[in-house]
Amino acid sequence: MPKLTVLDKTTEVAAGRRLVLAIEDAGVRIGHRCGGIARCTTCRVQFVAGEPDTMTEAEYQLLNERGLFGQYRLACQIVCDHDMSVTPALTADNQPQWSGDTGPTPDAMVQPKAVWQPISALKASHPPA
Ligand code: FES
Repeated sequence: MPKLTVLDKTTEVAAGRRLVLAIEDAGVRIGHRCGGIARCTTCRVQFVAGEPDTMTEAEYQLLNERGLFGQYRLACQIVCDHDMSVTPALTADNQPQWSGDTGPTPDAMVQPKAVWQPISALKASHPPA
């Protein structure tokens, strides 16, 4: 089983678990204000280790639209298939205006339907803005 480290706490995760849900499973109230459909970026994380070298087109497009490409990854667009260590940017604890509402519960499957591509191929076909 892959290991996930979030804010210095390490847990084992079922292989294939969406990262946003695995982070919640670990007790961290990460944002997912769009419900995990690659619309809001509140699930964004910084990788300490284990950043995937593939990305969904939805993640690539949204990160570029928001000027976040290269700084963050979207936890709703990643599955835990190897060991990872991440730091969530936005949580209910550091976003008091959410009043504890991290957003609708994301589906177990990545949405929109995921097609992961090498980041290098995405950059080649759609250069970052
Ligand atoms: S972009 Fe909204 S939950 Fe990931």
